[in-house]
Amino acid sequence: MKDKIQALLAEIDGLKAASSVELEALRVKYLSKKGEVSVLFNDFREVPNELKREVGQLLNELKTRAQDKLTSLKDELVASAEQSEMLDLTRTAEPIMLGTRHPLSLVKNEIIDIFSRIGFTIAEGPEIEDDWHVFGALNFPPEHPARDMQDTFFIEQNPDVVLRTHTSSVQSRIMSVQKPPLRMVFPGRVYRNEAISYRAHCFFHQVEGLYIDKDVSFADLKQALMYFAQEMFGPSTQIRLRPSYFPFTEPSAEMDISCNLCGGKGCPFCKHTGWVEILGCGMVDPNVLENCGIDSKVYSGYAFGMGVERITNLKYQVKDLRLFSENDVRFLRQFESAY
Ligand code: PHE
Repeated sequence: MKDKIQALLAEIDGLKAASSVELEALRVKYLSKKGEVSVLFNDFREVPNELKREVGQLLNELKTRAQDKLTSLKDELVASAEQSEMLDLTRTAEPIMLGTRHPLSLVKNEIIDIFSRIGFTIAEGPEIEDDWHVFGALNFPPEHPARDMQDTFFIEQNPDVVLRTHTSSVQSRIMSVQKPPLRMVFPGRVYRNEAISYRAHCFFHQVEGLYIDKDVSFADLKQALMYFAQEMFGPSTQIRLRPSYFPFTEPSAEMDISCNLCGGKGCPFCKHTGWVEILGCGMVDPNVLENCGIDSKVYSGYAFGMGVERITNLKYQVKDLRLFSENDVRFLRQFESAY
């Protein structure tokens, strides 16, 4: 019996299993009720008393060795299954979440793109400005209400330093350092001291345009804006210019487009007028040209400025301005475009 146990011990050490079916066959062969190890336990009764102790120990060892071997074979099978799973080259890749551009960037880029097709280049300037570039050079009289604390963020220590309230400040910077002809758009963030609500915020974005050359007329301005409106809102869009006032343009106007929701028939969105306002514009005031060192007897020009939020609201019917700065991905993910 001892020889039989020794032979089985050696046999068990060399066991291999390539699959769980083979492994189960081994368990049946050695450890089931009629398996080889169990049969030896049954035969144990016949072992002479003086040998019982020694053979008993051997038998127990055989049983544990067989159990351990089968457990380790099982572990090996599981490990190799996991590994081949990791190497499954046919598995579909994990989806990669792509970000989308912010709606304000999309619309800003689209505005820039439309004007660049008719020869406008881009310039940017600082958001923290001095009084001269935001107001003084642009013909704002010293007591003009726009300088009032309600509209402008001033730096307490130095009233000459302000957060720009419009990107017209870039206009005065460019005109002071570059010679006409100038044909540029100025995109950027601006700040106004307003209570935050669904329709006003303390900061927003503008794109302003400037064209200075000899013999620039109001008809040129109208044509450029007509082109812009139809590129942005579709070829059937109509425009309407209403007289207005800005310190830096004369004459000045505000431009409406035919409501892009109802096509001009009248709806709650356009307050049943058929028209929605989108920008301010006008011929650059000769005082502004002179303030920036441009001879107003030789040159004339037009300027216009629009709020990017306003255009975005019209294009995508966003009802609450605050959504633009909350960074809620459920809102932002809805905007996908080539721009
Ligand atoms: N700067 C004006 C504003 O912020 C817009 C404007 C620009 C009007 C250029 C006329 C000409 O409201």
